[in-house]
Amino acid sequence: MWRSVGLVCTVALLALVPLTTAGRVRDANGGTNCIVCTVLVGLVEQLAQVYNEGAVEALERFCSFLPEQLQAPCRAGAEIFAPYIAEAIYNKETPDVVCHAIGFCKVDPGHKACHIFPVPKEGMDAALRRIQEVKKMRQGREFTDICDIPGIKEICNIFDRAFSSHLPADDLDKDGFSTMKLLDNDCLTLSQGLDSETGLPYEEVLCNGTEPRGLILLGDSIGAHFHLPPQWFEAKSLNPSVFKDLLFILENEIDWPELSTATGHVNNTFGEVIKGPVDSIYMRLRERNRCNHRDYQNIGVNGGRSGSMNSTIVRSLVRNRMSDYPALVNIELVGNDVCNGHPDTLAHMTKPKEFRNNMLDTLQYLDEVLPEGSHVWVSGLANGSLLYANVHDRIHPLGSLRNDITYTDFYNYMNCLEISPCSGWLTDNSTLRYLTTKRAFELNDVLRNITANSRYKNFDLYYQDVPIDEVIAEWEAQGGQGWQLIEPVDGFHINQLANALGAAHIWEMLEKDHPNVLGKVNPNNDRIKQLFGDQGGY
Ligand SMILES: *[C@@H]1O[C@H](CO)[C@@H](O)[C@H](O)[C@H]1NC(C)=O
Ligand SMILES: *[C@@H]1O[C@H](CO)[C@@H](O)[C@H](O)[C@H]1NC(C)=O
Ligand SMILES: *[C@@H]1O[C@H](CO)[C@@H](O)[C@H](O)[C@H]1NC(C)=O
Ligand SMILES: *[C@@H]1O[C@H](CO)[C@@H](O)[C@H](O)[C@H]1NC(C)=O
Ligand SMILES: *[C@@H]1O[C@H](CO)[C@@H](O)[C@H](O)[C@H]1NC(C)=O
Ligand SMILES: *[C@@H]1O[C@H](CO)[C@@H](O)[C@H](O)[C@H]1NC(C)=O
Repeated sequence: MWRSVGLVCTVALLALVPLTTAGRVRDANGGTNCIVCTVLVGLVEQLAQVYNEGAVEALERFCSFLPEQLQAPCRAGAEIFAPYIAEAIYNKETPDVVCHAIGFCKVDPGHKACHIFPVPKEGMDAALRRIQEVKKMRQGREFTDICDIPGIKEICNIFDRAFSSHLPADDLDKDGFSTMKLLDNDCLTLSQGLDSETGLPYEEVLCNGTEPRGLILLGDSIGAHFHLPPQWFEAKSLNPSVFKDLLFILENEIDWPELSTATGHVNNTFGEVIKGPVDSIYMRLRERNRCNHRDYQNIGVNGGRSGSMNSTIVRSLVRNRMSDYPALVNIELVGNDVCNGHPDTLAHMTKPKEFRNNMLDTLQYLDEVLPEGSHVWVSGLANGSLLYANVHDRIHPLGSLRNDITYTDFYNYMNCLEISPCSGWLTDNSTLRYLTTKRAFELNDVLRNITANSRYKNFDLYYQDVPIDEVIAEWEAQGGQGWQLIEPVDGFHINQLANALGAAHIWEMLEKDHPNVLGKVNPNNDRIKQLFGDQGGY
């Protein structure tokens, strides 16, 4: 299971790490400890510039932004960091160099020194040699695990508890955290009470024969809607309000299924930490037939791939074959089968034969648990090359103060630390991006082959390309730009706006190609609205 590493605003960055690393969080050059240190030191040093103050004041300012229960531990940790940052600011050292000096960043044998901020004038190697000399003279205390720092240790524990109390019964193959939002067929008000005219239960009168159904998503972090607030990584945007929901966000494993393409259903009232419209397949299904109210499940798991889909994700689906309505199920695994942080990433991708077996076993299990008359649509893997194409030369939030970090810098840094969620796509090596997309498309051929040739008892089965390219093209045709649809912090997911546009696009695709999976429009919708209002909300 994920081991949390402290420091609040940056802890979240680590959540990128287990997206893909199937059981083995391996890293290099200090890995997660190094990135947490560097981001934190970078932010504090930027705060000092923004507010024209010293390191001690900037650290205090940072701690004061945090939720109450994290402030005291933050201050305890700050005492350890303050002298380093003060000296760094005085000497104009970069955060990368500072974190090598503290010991969280290293240069492993046979590796190059990693940096995300610009290289110091003298060069990275010269700077590191210089600080080694200083360190030898001082014989200062060395840390290697950021959670060992007094104060930070408490923050790590708080995060550990936040995550562990919400662990699903069965964790993925120990590689990540999972999100499950389960709500079953449960029309609170509809299922209660009798119709005065007929004396029959309302649910029978208003829903019988209208083909009600529930929406179930089985997928990855795209389906769960992973989103890190960019404000956490911009010195100018840091303030107490952006951390207001910090613990809530972490408890939800930084996923926002309630605002997602598949199962979004609440008005977005989170404020600045996540902006954009909400639209979803579930909302549209409910609009089509109000008997579908509250019948949705989002089993999107960060890091989900075909192996964990078969072994865990599909097996956490809850549906009663006898008493529940049929389901419309979307299986979406848009990339993790070709994504890993391994330096030899190509060798560690899922092979077509393996993928085929995982998917066949997943579908076979679905056939055992879904009510008769269900529908399953499988989304293909994306062309992840579009990520680099759209953002590579743009400025990452962490570089927003001085325009000094591009996504290419960020991607290279994660590859250098061997913690990238996808070293095949998030790279400036165009050959590698091409080969990664090639494998993704080979896996899509497997999906097409399976859907064309397999028959199941309890559901019909369709394949659909995941329409990210189309959504971007439509957005650009309206005058928008591709990068506006990509998650600003990780540069790896699609954002809130793209989730909503995607829902509209997928709905239209289904309506055109497979209208039967959506069911009829319920002629009793108005009556249901009139009788039950918002049906008890959520
Ligand atoms: C609704 O469907 C059930 C099961 O098919 C049936 O027993 C019942 O009579 C139907 N009720 C109405 C009002 O049509
Ligand atoms: C969202 O806001 C609209 C307009 O204020 C309201 O009509 C609707 O009921 C709200 N939906 C939910 C799910 O709260
Ligand atoms: C799928 O999962 C089941 C249950 O864990 C397991 O028995 C089966 O071997 C898995 N299939 C593959 C291809 O790994
Ligand atoms: C994948 O996306 C890249 C970048 O947008 C594009 O150049 C390439 O043609 C696409 N590949 C395929 C096979 O569609
Ligand atoms: C780019 O990736 C390819 C495929 O892994 C590899 O053969 C090649 O050496 C890489 N190029 C560079 C400049 O690293
Ligand atoms: C497609 O599926 C059929 C039937 O399962 C199989 O015989 C065939 O080899 C598959 N083709 C490819 C290209 O995988």
